[in-house]
Amino acid sequence: MLVFDKKDALSHHLESLRQPKTSVGFVPTMGALHQGHLSLLAQSVVENDITVISIFVNPTQFNNPEDLEKYPRTLESDIQKVRTISEKILIYAPSVADIYEGKTESKSYSFEGLEHQMEGKFRPGHFDGVGTVVKKLFEIVNPTRAYFGEKDFQQLQIVKKLVAKEQLPVIIVGCPVYREANGLAMSSRNERLSPQERQEAALIYATLQKTANQFAQQSIAKTRQMVAETFANHPLFQLEYFEIAEENTLKPAVKKQKNRKYRAFIAVFANNVRLIDTISLN
Ligand code: PAF
Repeated sequence: MLVFDKKDALSHHLESLRQPKTSVGFVPTMGALHQGHLSLLAQSVVENDITVISIFVNPTQFNNPEDLEKYPRTLESDIQKVRTISEKILIYAPSVADIYEGKTESKSYSFEGLEHQMEGKFRPGHFDGVGTVVKKLFEIVNPTRAYFGEKDFQQLQIVKKLVAKEQLPVIIVGCPVYREANGLAMSSRNERLSPQERQEAALIYATLQKTANQFAQQSIAKTRQMVAETFANHPLFQLEYFEIAEENTLKPAVKKQKNRKYRAFIAVFANNVRLIDTISLN
């Protein structure tokens, strides 16, 4: 298993392997790997000659210092998990200095309004941090395809916009949300829930499923009310936002329009752990 902590060493190694038609698949992560990440890796291994995973907790995308500090860092067990998919996968686990070279700052991006919705409203600067690190990682790995989970659907749309705007030569592949047996979307943050909280967090996806089942018959306003009531005064969960938005613009939908694709998005706190999820509605 090759683990690189320096970008130059990784780039040189990749250059030594690259032939004119060699394809490189890339899975950017912040570690604490779960089955969802491993499914992205497995897909990349099937679709590409070489697969690279990055494991890097990116400080510039955290607006909450406590969230950054508490983000799980589990490199040794992450390496073992990657090994179960393929020994040939290249791991890039850099330091902050290797990525940011002494200037731990994000660039300011415009993603045509996508960045102002939902996560962007509640996590100021988050998508500037994501855009900055994803672009840096793409420059280091130079991938043919890069794999992102649809759980972070807004991030996926923003990365596609980044690639289009900056004309980056990479295909962005969106992959379905991977769920625990009770429906909870897999996330590195789930590690911070107690076993009971993790069971109870099934309510988040159950609520999204109810939203999807009622979407054809029920108005958007009524659906919002139903979700607000589900979480109001809940002993464990605080609803941060629930939104129904059109998939391409991510603008909140007021009325349903024909030939548009809609999605529901939710962010919920369980104690201090922030959980997000999404579902396609039509
Ligand atoms: O989705 C994530 O884990 C992160 O936002 C990413 C894409 C690895 C950038 O740090």
